[in-house]
Amino acid sequence: MTAHQWRGVIEEYRPLLDIPADTPAVTLGEGGTPLVHSDWLSGVTGGEVWLKVEGDNPTASFKDRGMTAAVSVAVHQGAQACVCASTGNTSASMAAYAAKAGITPIVLVPEGKIAAGKMAQAIMHGARVIMVRGNFDDCLKISRGLAEHYPVALVNSVNPDRLEGQKTASFEIVDRLGDAPDFHLLPVGNAGNISAYWLGYQQYADLGHATRRPVMRAYQAEGAAPLVTGEPFPNPETKATAIRIGNPASWKLAEAAAAESGGRFAALTDDQILSAQRELARRDGVFVEPASAAGVAGLLQDLEQGESYAGTTVAITVTGHGLKDTATALEGFGPVVDAVVDAEVEAAASAAGLS
Ligand code: F0G
Repeated sequence: MTAHQWRGVIEEYRPLLDIPADTPAVTLGEGGTPLVHSDWLSGVTGGEVWLKVEGDNPTASFKDRGMTAAVSVAVHQGAQACVCASTGNTSASMAAYAAKAGITPIVLVPEGKIAAGKMAQAIMHGARVIMVRGNFDDCLKISRGLAEHYPVALVNSVNPDRLEGQKTASFEIVDRLGDAPDFHLLPVGNAGNISAYWLGYQQYADLGHATRRPVMRAYQAEGAAPLVTGEPFPNPETKATAIRIGNPASWKLAEAAAAESGGRFAALTDDQILSAQRELARRDGVFVEPASAAGVAGLLQDLEQGESYAGTTVAITVTGHGLKDTATALEGFGPVVDAVVDAEVEAAASAAGLS
């Protein structure tokens, strides 16, 4: 028997993607990520809770799904360089796919607000990294300006090709569960991901691959919660730097996803987000970055507020890997090692509480 090799989201789902039919795929084998059953959250809710673990993508975040599509189309159309604004994951992904395609990645990031792992990725893949004295929203404005006036392709999620690749995550969830979940929970920043998931769920239902569409519930950090308050945040602030965004580009699409699905947005404190991150790592063995835990923190908040998920199927996207930002993860832990001992079994046994 030959083991099936996952071919990346373009080749796995090409007929369902609205990109030029003959676009060669620039791929690193993205997608096909695990849907892990959360025994912890299923127990807490009395439902079936599944984690879509997007940190298992090639550059360790969900961004690779959309990036394979955007870079493939850009290269097919003759681009020699591509640009994006980023809180870190988009830039890491873009740099990798640009490297694979042999084009120049140009990255604009808010100064001092990018996790070290993400910065290392952009640098290692050969990106030109430009730090901006401003926030993500400023970086996006500049990226749009560069793409308008210079020969560089904009690959932020305002580029519709990004959503086409990204929506494959919904397809995978339905393919695995046999139908759409009752609820889908996820973090929101620039709002491309929620828009793409909704696109994918609708398409699958229209095609008859799913009998229903999930209720979309999306969570922001309270210091960067424009979709909750209905107003842009001029100075967004949160330890979950990936979603430190005050004026999401896909605002309207995200609102439509929430409204059409009967869902909503809610805000979380940084403490709620960081606590969910730790619990998820300890209880389910899934280490995600802070922003990625917002869906889990949101579920716990909903339960506290009297919401019931009993008897339902819930998918939660955990968007990026914990190794991207170990500094924030380890804050508040004090000394990171429990004990330092001489190289002896007895000393280790006693330090481990075994003797
Ligand atoms: N989770 C992580 C880990 C992210 O990096 C992002 C966005 C989100 C959630 C929110 O997704 O923007 O589609 O609503 N990161 C972007 C970036 C902004 O530049 O990497 P969204």
